[in-house]
Amino acid sequence: MKRTHHCAQVTKANLGATVSLAGWVDSVRDHGGIIFVDLRDREGITQVKFDSHLRAQAALLKDESVIGIVGKVELRPADMVNKNLPTSDIEVDATELVVHNISDTPPFPLDDAGGDKVNEDLRLTYRYLDLRRPKMRKNLITRHRATKAVRDYFDAQQFIEVETPVLFKSTPEGAREYLVPSRIHPGQFYALSQSPQQFKQILMVAGVEKYFQIARCFRDEDLRADRQMEFTQIDVEASFIDREGIYTLFEGMLKKVWKDVINHDLPTPFPRLAYQDAMNRYGVDKPDTRIAMKLVDLSDTFKASSFKVFASTVAAGGCVKAFNAMGLADVTQGEITALEEIAKSLGAKGLAFIKVEGGEWKSPIVKFFSEAEKAELTQRLKITDGDLVFFAAAPWERACAILGRTRLEATQLLVKRGKLALRADQWNFLWVVDFPLMSYDEKRGSYAATHHPFTAPVAEDAALLDTNPKAVRGQHYDVVLNGMELGGGSIRIHQPALQKKIFEDVLKIPADVVASRFGYLLKAFTYGAPPHGGIAFGLDRLVALLCGTTSIRDVIAFPKTQRAQDLMAQSPTPVTAKQLKDLHISTVVPPQ
Ligand code: AMO
Ligand code: AMP
Repeated sequence: MKRTHHCAQVTKANLGATVSLAGWVDSVRDHGGIIFVDLRDREGITQVKFDSHLRAQAALLKDESVIGIVGKVELRPADMVNKNLPTSDIEVDATELVVHNISDTPPFPLDDAGGDKVNEDLRLTYRYLDLRRPKMRKNLITRHRATKAVRDYFDAQQFIEVETPVLFKSTPEGAREYLVPSRIHPGQFYALSQSPQQFKQILMVAGVEKYFQIARCFRDEDLRADRQMEFTQIDVEASFIDREGIYTLFEGMLKKVWKDVINHDLPTPFPRLAYQDAMNRYGVDKPDTRIAMKLVDLSDTFKASSFKVFASTVAAGGCVKAFNAMGLADVTQGEITALEEIAKSLGAKGLAFIKVEGGEWKSPIVKFFSEAEKAELTQRLKITDGDLVFFAAAPWERACAILGRTRLEATQLLVKRGKLALRADQWNFLWVVDFPLMSYDEKRGSYAATHHPFTAPVAEDAALLDTNPKAVRGQHYDVVLNGMELGGGSIRIHQPALQKKIFEDVLKIPADVVASRFGYLLKAFTYGAPPHGGIAFGLDRLVALLCGTTSIRDVIAFPKTQRAQDLMAQSPTPVTAKQLKDLHISTVVPPQ
């Protein structure tokens, strides 16, 4: 029984024809002796009628069984036409039925609405059923289309796809790694690649000039909605390119993906925002610019205030920042307490606020404010009745972080109340640029690369590397969309001396460690390394946005749970003593 059509292909045009279909039983209905089966394949649904000798056999079919049928295409009675289904004006009168497999009753409903209500762990345990749901199937297709658009784009731009090793070596500077024991070299380990970063730079030394890869990356991180231990990057590197070249190239890629996949014309170029401005205005380096509320610096207003908490913070070199959560004066005490807890977890000493209700400012701190201070607040924060204003007094970075987070939490509260709506299809792309090259890690008492140690300093700042590394801007850029970091990259260091200086003098990595970890890269740079730069995008995040979902698990066929488990295949598992012995490994399992 060879399939002649997909379900979605059978239309009025085939009236009278004999067709052969195959697929899954979406539903079985017994209408007074006539059995109707909605037959589903990847492309759609066709109604099949069994009113002949096949009726008894069809009555035994259960949902999700797999069958093949041969039959004649007929018009359906007019009152049975479903206007929403293009194939609903016809049905197939079956003359043959092959039952390939009877299905057990699925543990949850396989329609979109029903499946959405069940626990995700159940969906992941039976992922093959979950993936039969129309929404999940659509997500897989969207992922395929997006990946294809990316490949087509780079191919047209003369980039070539090169595969780089997954089994790499340990480079502990980045995220925590997955280690793979070597059988042949006892006591030695590979590490699964966190990203193809070093290989793609080496490919530039090799003269490839334009490289890309849809690359699988592995990071042993705490998993979240936008993070998996195993994820995919659109990874790119090019020689003889500057930041402007990168911006244009990637705006072009995103434009094509959005056009090809969801037929949307993205306006380019994207706005650019310096890191300093992003922090000052939004309190984060990946701002969601759909949210209008912005942070305001009030250090000048309060430097001589009689509210000592504010004045003394400014005197100590910190700042006072605030934002107006417009319309949130009906905040509950419980919500305020929760916000204070979050602020404290970010190092806040308190989270002062003013509620404006019935023309009155309600706040424990307002008694300390002068009329002039109140007037300035009203004007700078555009305060009107019904508003709620939050304050943070702290060192600059901390004040930004506290209010940045409070701004997002306040947004959720406004959304919950129906006072604010964030549209998932409002595509506020932006480039965040001019990141500091280094940040000072208080705990370790040393500098750490903001992005990674291969990022080149902005040329005019390079002289500050010896005197004030913190002030040096990096040639680093992030692509941010609606509060999510979608991609990041940089123009790289290509001079071996400068790279060595960053490792040893700025990052203070001992020379012998530099030699063992990065010696090969530094050596490669001595054989004619071209200037180069690149970027990597999170493919999973990009597809999740295109699918309108907030969880990347919804766009990965077989994701791990938040607890890093594969519930379907039941992984991880213990292994045999023999396997461990062969790998020269013994394990010490902590008591449960
Ligand atoms: P970075 O570490 O910023 O850069 O990663 C690039 C992009 O990869 C995505 N991403 C993730 N997606 C899902 N789960 C994860 N655990 C995860 N971690 C990162 C993000 C991020 O923006 N080699 C550099 C790039 C370069 O400089 O060219 C790199 O890996 O969307
Ligand atoms: P206190 O004088 O410590 O009782 O604080 C008065 C109010 O100011 C309380 O609502 C505190 O939450 C708030 N507050 C205290 N310190 C800070 C700070 N550094 N930034 C913002 N608000 C603060």
